[in-house]
Amino acid sequence: MAMVCLSDFEAYAKKYLPKIAWDFFAAGADDCNTRDENILAYKRIHFRPRMLRDVSVMDIRTKILGSEISFPVGIAPTGFHQLAWPDGEKSTARAAKAMNTCYIASTYSTCTLEEISAAAPGGLRWFQLYVHCNREVSKNLVQRAEASGFQALVLTADLPYTGRRRDDIRNGFRLPPHMKLKNLEGAFEVCRMSLLDASVTWNDIYWLRSLTQLPIIIKGILTREDAELAVRHGVQGIIVSNHGGRQLDGGLATIDALVEIVEAVQGRAEVYLDGGIRKGSDILKALALGAKCVFIGRPALWGLAYKGEEGLQDVLRILQDEFRLSMALAGCASVSEIGPHLVQFSKL
Ligand code: FNR
Repeated sequence: MAMVCLSDFEAYAKKYLPKIAWDFFAAGADDCNTRDENILAYKRIHFRPRMLRDVSVMDIRTKILGSEISFPVGIAPTGFHQLAWPDGEKSTARAAKAMNTCYIASTYSTCTLEEISAAAPGGLRWFQLYVHCNREVSKNLVQRAEASGFQALVLTADLPYTGRRRDDIRNGFRLPPHMKLKNLEGAFEVCRMSLLDASVTWNDIYWLRSLTQLPIIIKGILTREDAELAVRHGVQGIIVSNHGGRQLDGGLATIDALVEIVEAVQGRAEVYLDGGIRKGSDILKALALGAKCVFIGRPALWGLAYKGEEGLQDVLRILQDEFRLSMALAGCASVSEIGPHLVQFSKL
């Protein structure tokens, strides 16, 4: 099978993954409107490309929080990579390092933080935190992440409770017995209802700040009001995200929420985006509207399902080629030339 674009990997994963794993990866909340809207919204944005601008030498590199990456796409945190490939998050870390980009490892990884670090020494990786109902468990995770070379902490803000994903409920989704939430082993007994602490507030950013020297990024912001609060609480980065449409159904697509957030932040923190990135021109649109970098969730899982580390590299390479070409055809030879002049919103 010739893998030419990301939907080829999606079709492969759908065909070959066990149904329960495919459904878990694909799931959105309720009617999946927001999940689908994340993708559809890109069709309403059109390019205003510029011509005759010497695009013979292209530079698609960028920097996030001071670290150079080969192009402005990283890997969003997603749980349970062993459902896609036996080596799980270790393969993800190796692929990200080989492609010189950033991997955000989830609290819900099926490998330990230390295993992920050891798989790709020197790779750029951030740790995504869900605050556990026992704060000592989270404190310990943050400190382990810092000690094992993770370079930033990503606090996910949009999951006080898990959204209702109907196929998971129908399938009675649970991890197969041989897979474990390796970073939370032994941490289950202490919780009465949910594993996660639904009482988290903005003040807890100060608590996190007291635990670590690492930069703090907040993930799951969708409004200018929360972007302003994030900046006032001293975060270094914001990921505009609706969790791939898996939480509150009926919200805006992330690309539609991005504009007001970039306006509110006014350069006081880096703004990133995830949700619905499926091709190079999507990346260009997000950067034109002010994102510094974007992250892919499901497409990374499809790459893993195809051929592990190699398959994920294929996904990233295709996105890289498509992005480079889109930039050139829009008249930009380097990422610094991308700006709002390149796009316009249209009614569809
Ligand atoms: C996620 N996401 C997620 N986010 C997070 O902060 N921690 C996590 O453990 C997970 N787990 C997770 C599992 C699966 C299967 C999916 C699809 C998503 C959300 C993820 O980081 C990201 O926001 C979305 O996946 C981006 O949308 P796309 O690229 O999947 O459209």
